[in-house]
Amino acid sequence: MSPLPKTGGARVLIIGATSAIARETAQVYAASGARLFLTGRNGGRLASVRDDLLVRGAAQVETAELEVTQIASHRSVVDAAVGSLGGLDIALIAHGTLPDQTRCQEEVSATLDAIQINFTATVALLTLLANYFEAQRRGCIAVIGSVAGDRGRQSNYVYGAAKGGLDRFLQGLRNRLYRSGVAVVTIKPGLVETPMTSGMPKTPLFASARRVGRSIERAIENRRNVVYIPWYWRPVMAVIRWVPESIFKRLQL
Ligand SMILES: NC(=O)c1ccc[n+]([C@@H]2O[C@H](COP(=O)([O-])OP(=O)(O)OC[C@H]3O[C@@H](n4cnc5c(N)ncnc54)[C@H](OP(=O)(O)O)[C@@H]3O)[C@@H](O)[C@H]2O)c1
Repeated sequence: MSPLPKTGGARVLIIGATSAIARETAQVYAASGARLFLTGRNGGRLASVRDDLLVRGAAQVETAELEVTQIASHRSVVDAAVGSLGGLDIALIAHGTLPDQTRCQEEVSATLDAIQINFTATVALLTLLANYFEAQRRGCIAVIGSVAGDRGRQSNYVYGAAKGGLDRFLQGLRNRLYRSGVAVVTIKPGLVETPMTSGMPKTPLFASARRVGRSIERAIENRRNVVYIPWYWRPVMAVIRWVPESIFKRLQL
């Protein structure tokens, strides 16, 4: 596999760049002089992320508004990123929503919205990005999934299904792109302190967005396949996956 340029010279596309976790990852890239193309659905928030990254040392920061469910607009945004950075070394997909599980059970539209944002839109973006990187024969695609995708639980199985489907899609993509020298990194954070989890009571299992953001940059640099962040979620999820379904279905999880 051809090596990625060191973080400092990297040209990085970040989808969902206003996410707390993505912002922390972007700050690591900015500090080493990377060139970034950021997308987000809120122009004001996007501009403030851009200004912050420029102050932190990014060599170039471009932005484009993107509501990820507007799938027809994906191609022009990817083309704009490639055009304005002169190519891409890394694409990080970070957008996501944590839907209200009870509402999803009551309203079909809430379930389908959650699947559209967390799975369908991401798959659509990955299809374009995979073809770009495959033709280039180098680079890295990284996607933020979740430990929630490792096993369906009654308290969040709509979100879990979207992230689980993404996990399987990325497995196949990694297998396909290996021969082209393109890395595919599946990132599985556990509980992270961000606006997404602001309504949850905080426990010692929560990690800071800063810790997770830095770990994501390292995972990309090291071309990891699947990374649990923090590390302790790997054994925790191994145990959770191991519990037989005949027992698991009785648990209140
Ligand atoms: N926080 C956790 O505990 C945790 C755990 C595991 C995995 N994750 C995953 O980590 C990723 C980042 O989440 P976060 O924790 O950093 O939460 P966050 O700060 O709430 O970020 C979520 C991001 O997704 C964007 N987004 C949501 N719907 C969108 C849409 N339809 N079109 C475009 N952008 C959209 C939001 O844009 P706006 O800024 O416009 O709202 C925001 O940038 C997500 O994929 C999430 O599923 C989070």
